[in-house]
Amino acid sequence: MPVSAAPHRDLLAIPDFSSAELVALFDLADRMRRGEYRDRPLAGKTLAMIFMKASTRTRVSFEVGAYQLGGQASFLSPRDVQLGRGEPIADTARVLSRYVDGIMIRTFAHADVEELARYADVPVINGLTDLLHPCQILADLLTVRQHLGGWEGRRIAWIGDGNNMANSWLNAAYRLGFELAIACPAGYEPDAAILARARTATTVTLTHDPREAIAGAHVVNTDVWASMGQEEEQQRRERDFAGYTVDEPMMELASPDAIFLHCLPAHRGEEVSAAVIDGPRSRVWDEAENRLHIQKAVMAVLIGGVPLA
Ligand code: CP
Ligand code: NVA
Repeated sequence: MPVSAAPHRDLLAIPDFSSAELVALFDLADRMRRGEYRDRPLAGKTLAMIFMKASTRTRVSFEVGAYQLGGQASFLSPRDVQLGRGEPIADTARVLSRYVDGIMIRTFAHADVEELARYADVPVINGLTDLLHPCQILADLLTVRQHLGGWEGRRIAWIGDGNNMANSWLNAAYRLGFELAIACPAGYEPDAAILARARTATTVTLTHDPREAIAGAHVVNTDVWASMGQEEEQQRRERDFAGYTVDEPMMELASPDAIFLHCLPAHRGEEVSAAVIDGPRSRVWDEAENRLHIQKAVMAVLIGGVPLA
């Protein structure tokens, strides 16, 4: 555990890594998935996990991943830690840095994660904010590589809310250069600055017609209509997202080899039909598993000091 500020890197957003570094990260994660990586770069190290929102996949995959790399994880919920009673983020960052070797945080405002990273002397990993969900999109890209061999020349469609997932897909397109087709209802567009930056690097189309975005897509991706913290907007969003359900007729418009992705949790009958998410094109369980492998790669590099070859 650090007693002085050592140089370190964070993962707050996908562009924190170069495209070559991202590919090296995917290669490492693939070795982990195939069981070829047996090192324990986190031996004697601890990851603090701050969860200001609920989680199944993120919590368990980080906890199991830290253990498999020889370390351990400490789960901190706002019910139990002083952060939940108003202790400043900066103080929390300074104190945790004296105990642990890395901090993963899931919270509401992205600025809170940036503040945590500013004051922490150990790597900070973004486990989801209202703005971004980088670990999920890294797992999604690993799944695209696993099932389609890569994203080069592929068209990736985002059907639904311009939320943290959509914004992170834009960041991935910015770094990796694949075509991204986004369909969202009027008023639910992704972050304007993130969209504009992605458009400097690759083709990003934005439409209010989900059929237009899904046409010829090799990857069809959606998410809940109301994210965590938006529960009271559920009814209004159900009205506004009418026609956005990814169902079998919609999937017929995609490429014949198209795969379906969803970060989960899913609401069958809302953003996706049961026939699609439980059907032959769905790769959602591999996608969920890939959270473990890619996050292990991230922790090995950021916390364990494994070089990105
Ligand atoms: N996809 C995802 O982040 O799931 P959890 O909310 O269960 O962590
Ligand atoms: N957009 C969703 C993703 C959940 C993993 C949310 O923020 O709730």
